[in-house]
Amino acid sequence: MKADQLLFEDWHPVAALEDFVPGRTFRSRLLGRPISFRKEDGVLSGDWGDDGKSQPLSVKEAYGAVWASFSATPRELFPVPEFAEVDRRVVSAGSTRVNVSGPRAIENFLDMAHFPFVHTDILGAEPLTEVLPYNVTHDVERDEIIATECRFAQPRASATAVEPIETQYTYRVTRPNIAILYKTCPPDPSRWDVLCLFVQPVDEDWCIAHTIMCYVDEVNTDEQLRKFQQTIFGQDLMILINQVPKRLPLAVSKENPVRADVLATAYRRWLRESDLRYGVIRD
Ligand SMILES: [Fe+2]
Repeated sequence: MKADQLLFEDWHPVAALEDFVPGRTFRSRLLGRPISFRKEDGVLSGDWGDDGKSQPLSVKEAYGAVWASFSATPRELFPVPEFAEVDRRVVSAGSTRVNVSGPRAIENFLDMAHFPFVHTDILGAEPLTEVLPYNVTHDVERDEIIATECRFAQPRASATAVEPIETQYTYRVTRPNIAILYKTCPPDPSRWDVLCLFVQPVDEDWCIAHTIMCYVDEVNTDEQLRKFQQTIFGQDLMILINQVPKRLPLAVSKENPVRADVLATAYRRWLRESDLRYGVIRD
């Protein structure tokens, strides 16, 4: 139960900052419990539990999102230093309710093999369907899964891409429901665009995917960046809503060899070894 306790006490995304209107109370669900939060006179506060016996919810703003925790003393949020770089644009691509568990949504995000088939002519195209070898490591100190040297030939890698390029990716999985993608930044090859998939575990079968972009881009409007990412996510949604079962199976025997993806396999192993139960199927 240790991993589930960690999950319960951790920070979770509950809204995109862009949608968070001061003076209004927001109601949602987190890990099967009702939550509410608000910002009044610049002060954030929140509650969880049923009316009559509600308890304080820890709330804070970070990385273009609002975060909440049931713990009065949550562990520190993972670092994403790029959000402190003043010339970056932080834009939400929306918060989408999806009928799968958080780990299911994360696993889909980590899978590069689907690019040519699901995001045809945008993030991939036939005949270049092969996922080239890349490195996956477990950063023990931070307890993160990191995939580096991922490459993919992409017809239209981002809203700023004007021609097909070989896009480079680095993935970080910092928490069971958090994945961050660093990808080639077409206007400035020395930096990375950062695309965050912050997943709110609503309950074991439902999640809300908050997609936050932290990009170096002086060309596109917020609306153009949002539209590009929403097109991609809309295509993923068609795959996600058909996933059976809704929770992520962790048993080695349940792994689909066709989708034997090194990163997704490392993610499932990491969850398996952490003893997490919430949103996954262990046997
Ligand atoms: Fe996708």
